[in-house]
Amino acid sequence: MLGLCATIVKLSAPAMPTNANAEAAWNYHEVTKHSYTSVRTNPHFLDFGNQPLPFKIYPALEPSRMPTEVRQTGVAALSAIACSVPAQTNAAPDLEAVAQLLYLSAGITRQRKYSGGEIYFRAAACTGALYEVELYLVCRELANLQAGVYHFAPAEFGLRRLRAGDYRSVLVEATGGEPAIAHAPLIIVCTCTYWRNAWKYQARTYRHFGWDNGTMLANLLAVATALGLPAKVVCGFVDATVNRLLDVDSQREVAFSLVAVGHDSDLSAQIAQPAQTISRTPAEISPLGFETVPLSRDEVDYPLMREMHAASSLDSAEEVAAWRERTPLGSTGMPGSPPPAGPVIQLQPLSDAEMPRDPIEQVILRRGSSRQFERTPITLAQLSTLLDRATRGVPADFEDPMESQLNQLYLIVHAVEGLDSGAYFFHRDRGVLECLKHGNFRNQAGYLGLGQQLPADAAVGIFFLTDLRPIFDRLGNRGYRAVQLEAGILGGKLYLAAYAQRLGATGLTFYDDDVTRFFSPHAEGKSAIFLVAVGHSVRRKL
Ligand SMILES: Cc1cc2nc3c(=O)[nH]c(=O)nc-3n(C[C@H](O)[C@H](O)[C@H](O)COP(=O)(O)O)c2cc1C
Repeated sequence: MLGLCATIVKLSAPAMPTNANAEAAWNYHEVTKHSYTSVRTNPHFLDFGNQPLPFKIYPALEPSRMPTEVRQTGVAALSAIACSVPAQTNAAPDLEAVAQLLYLSAGITRQRKYSGGEIYFRAAACTGALYEVELYLVCRELANLQAGVYHFAPAEFGLRRLRAGDYRSVLVEATGGEPAIAHAPLIIVCTCTYWRNAWKYQARTYRHFGWDNGTMLANLLAVATALGLPAKVVCGFVDATVNRLLDVDSQREVAFSLVAVGHDSDLSAQIAQPAQTISRTPAEISPLGFETVPLSRDEVDYPLMREMHAASSLDSAEEVAAWRERTPLGSTGMPGSPPPAGPVIQLQPLSDAEMPRDPIEQVILRRGSSRQFERTPITLAQLSTLLDRATRGVPADFEDPMESQLNQLYLIVHAVEGLDSGAYFFHRDRGVLECLKHGNFRNQAGYLGLGQQLPADAAVGIFFLTDLRPIFDRLGNRGYRAVQLEAGILGGKLYLAAYAQRLGATGLTFYDDDVTRFFSPHAEGKSAIFLVAVGHSVRRKL
């Protein structure tokens, strides 16, 4: 009898989640959708007495301070977001460049007192200003920076060295020999901490990992370009190896993306040669055991997110290499958008000679999410420039060719000179907007953006939607990380393109299925991924 029960239990036990079986991502996506009812019936409240610390603190490690002077590259933000330095360009950052990259992507750029304390705003937008993304460096010896594994401490604007020596070979192996990683003098590892964001957003936080990491990467990629450094985002790696290298508690904090920075053509031989680097096998990476300050009095666990993470994890270098082979979506995997069936409007982006030339570092420092929009129009040239510059491609291992794109853009236009109010689809390949329906949809846009005023007042709401089926077919559960990360990167670029033109922008969250319904029948079968509103910000009185 017992044996039978055991057999029954064994037979009905769920299969170990694998990346290829995208059931976990479908389930996570469904369960974390917002609807009018789900938002109103959620008993969750913000316990300010238990609010997590916005910084990871290693009390026993003294940070070494970095130079604080911002180098003026003079490179126009609208150029920096739109192009990248060719991958084979030999270049390595020095400490000043490292400081610039870190400051302008994750540094504290503003602070504001409020009744409960002080908010330290960072260079990139982040849901709830909760800043769950941490940055680590893994580098060879660079000018004024010794080889090592470091944690970036934004509060002190310093680096804490976790390991001394060159550990890049561990990442080369973890990424199945990804070429940009194999040649990179510096690799930035981005991790995400569940509780820091889940305190407010609960299980939906796993989506936020992609969004908030992505906005940061938009800045990082643009600054790298301005500094003449090639950079590539890498989403495919053996999770356990990277987490072990950083010695993070992976029940709480997990590596989400890597960025290869710089290129050294002779390095591949050197990295592959264990004798010349501290090229331990991943299994030989010793735990560090450094104490860190608890984020809160108590932490609430949302197992759904950890399940989603486990199901999208890659377990071996072979699996990573095979995953990367499956990434080309441009040719066969991702169905191109059907040709326009309705009236189209040709976009009129400004040329390099006509565009505003405000440098990237000034634009990043000026950025801050709009808290209120004026109901005044932007021009068609401004909208065209935004869309054109922000969507010219992301150097990433999940974009092959680089110009492919997982997300598609739908617009609700309220106030753009020369464009009737209505709903539109952006045909990126043709540089046109297809009108799906005319009308004043301010109220609907406000509703779709979770009943907030911002998307109702903005000049335009830019919604990201995608058909998740071909993405999951090719990339498995990991495709969910990639699509959210890409959305964050494109959203971050839209922010920068707006502020470069003296406009305002804000990311927003949304009622998932209502967004799809609004843009249907065109959007039938697609999922809502991201939303940015753009317009003229109401200037705050000083
Ligand atoms: C993906 C994303 C979604 C956001 N959603 C909202 C939102 O629904 N409502 C809102 O008022 N602000 C939203 N924000 C703006 C954040 O609150 C803002 O980025 C954060 O407070 C940091 O401030 P800053 O962007 O001015 O630096 C969002 C930002 C991002 C990146």
